[in-house]
Amino acid sequence: MQDIIQQLEKKRAKARLGGGKKRIEKQHAKGKLTARERVELFLDDDSFEEWDMFVEHRCVDFGMEDNKIPGDGVVIGYGTVNGRLIFVFSQDFTVFGGSLSETHAKKICKIMEQAMKAGAPVVGLADSGGARIQEGVASLGGYADVFQQNVLASGVIPQISVIMGPSAGGAVYSPAITDFIFMVRDSSYMFVTGPDVVKTVTHETVTAEELGGASTHSSKSGVCHAAFDNDVETLLMTRRFVSYLPPNNREKPPVWPTSDPAKRAEPSLDTIIPDDPAKPYDMKEVVHKLADEGSFFEIQSEYAKNIIVGFIRMEGSTVGVIANQPMVLAGCLDINSSTKSARFVRFCDAFNIPLLTLIDVPGFMPGTSQEYGGIIKHGAKLLYAYAEATVPKVTLITRKAYGGAYDVMSSKHLRGDVNYAWPSAEIAVMGPKGAVEIIFRSDIGNADAIAERTEEYRKKFANPFIAGARGYIDDVIMPRNTRSRICRSLNMLREKKLENPWRKHGNIPL
Ligand code: HXC
Repeated sequence: MQDIIQQLEKKRAKARLGGGKKRIEKQHAKGKLTARERVELFLDDDSFEEWDMFVEHRCVDFGMEDNKIPGDGVVIGYGTVNGRLIFVFSQDFTVFGGSLSETHAKKICKIMEQAMKAGAPVVGLADSGGARIQEGVASLGGYADVFQQNVLASGVIPQISVIMGPSAGGAVYSPAITDFIFMVRDSSYMFVTGPDVVKTVTHETVTAEELGGASTHSSKSGVCHAAFDNDVETLLMTRRFVSYLPPNNREKPPVWPTSDPAKRAEPSLDTIIPDDPAKPYDMKEVVHKLADEGSFFEIQSEYAKNIIVGFIRMEGSTVGVIANQPMVLAGCLDINSSTKSARFVRFCDAFNIPLLTLIDVPGFMPGTSQEYGGIIKHGAKLLYAYAEATVPKVTLITRKAYGGAYDVMSSKHLRGDVNYAWPSAEIAVMGPKGAVEIIFRSDIGNADAIAERTEEYRKKFANPFIAGARGYIDDVIMPRNTRSRICRSLNMLREKKLENPWRKHGNIPL
């Protein structure tokens, strides 16, 4: 017995040491934590329950039979974050570069299957050189098993990928399927093919950071949902992030205590809309003023900045906010802003998170690059996402709601539950100038006539009352009272029940 216990301790110590002291020092020298240190920091103190510490690979090629490290390069298990159950896997770069073997993949799948049974989120901490080269196709099979598990878990439990080192080749596709990808600046990168292959195939010279670093994926590709400065900040922000999410698709998001009163009036909102309709204002300020104090967690803040998406809390409950940003491209909808917000709307709908939509949109972005890029199908994604969503939908038009964008952005016609407008709202087929130049084309050249017609159109349509008269707007509200009106609506909708017709799945335009 004593012997077995000694063996156990020896094995545990070996597993804890991963690839050994030297490699751990190397990891630290890069400013990175080890797989276990990350798990410890991410989870509540003493809450981690580790599984499969003794699993070893089965490879017998290239001398691998004599080179086994218990755990095989990935630490898996579960614990709590702020007392709530979370499953986790953390790749250990000190063990064969965190590369994915057949058994390494099995461990990841095991924890994901368990998370689905228990109905709790999975957070994957990625730091891996990709497929275990010595294992060949067994490793590729392992990846495919992980992808399959990711797809089965999609929309059932929240899945979050935190990229904390390399993630290259096909390895990028597991994170890509998950709901959110966070990256660490300057020490993580993701690409399908690395700089050397790029150079050979396209003759481009590019560094790993330029090709797939956090800034590239935060601002250019939109693959990354949030980037942070180092391992510690990333893990602490991931802890904060999961506090917004429900554990699974059958439960509601948690309600956290708040001292911010639902009835808080915000008089500064009465003057936030400039007199000149062409002048921008910062919609983020509106979001901050409406939300429970300090509760806004923005997603993809550096990508498609003409639309803002993220989580806020209202009376302590999570709400997904989607808001046009007049400061960027006048807040118009284009390809990137449509896909960004469509995916966010679908996440919220899958996980019972009510939607708050703040609208100031002049329409869809015109131009050949948008049309050639497929704005028709990409814009349709947002329309589809809103139309299929059955969660509570509260909408506020702060200023412009023109054209197709009026329809798309959670309008009454797409089953919006409560649709408010501020007195400054302008709801029409298009802006006054464009409209007049079409319906009074013969007056073009006569500046006075055009100005007169434009004013006439503005007076008639650039207000919320025509939509109000048809019931497309439920009420025109004073900006200062917006928070209390939204809170009241969300309370009214708390037990909302709405189901779409049965089908295998819809066919969103991809
Ligand atoms: C086995 C690997 C490995 C791998 C790294 N190592 N990648 N072992 N399989 N894929 C080992 C190294 O041999 C080394 O072992 C240790 O990990 C650290 O690697 P270094 O190269 O010393 O580290 P660094 O200089 O930081 O470079 C990291 C790296 C580089 C950029 C990730 O290791 C690299 O390019 N690795 C190969 C990446 C790759 O091509 N992977 C396959 C992609 S294709 P020692 O013993 O010296 O510490 C793929 C297909 C998946 O993933 C398809 C799914 C559909």
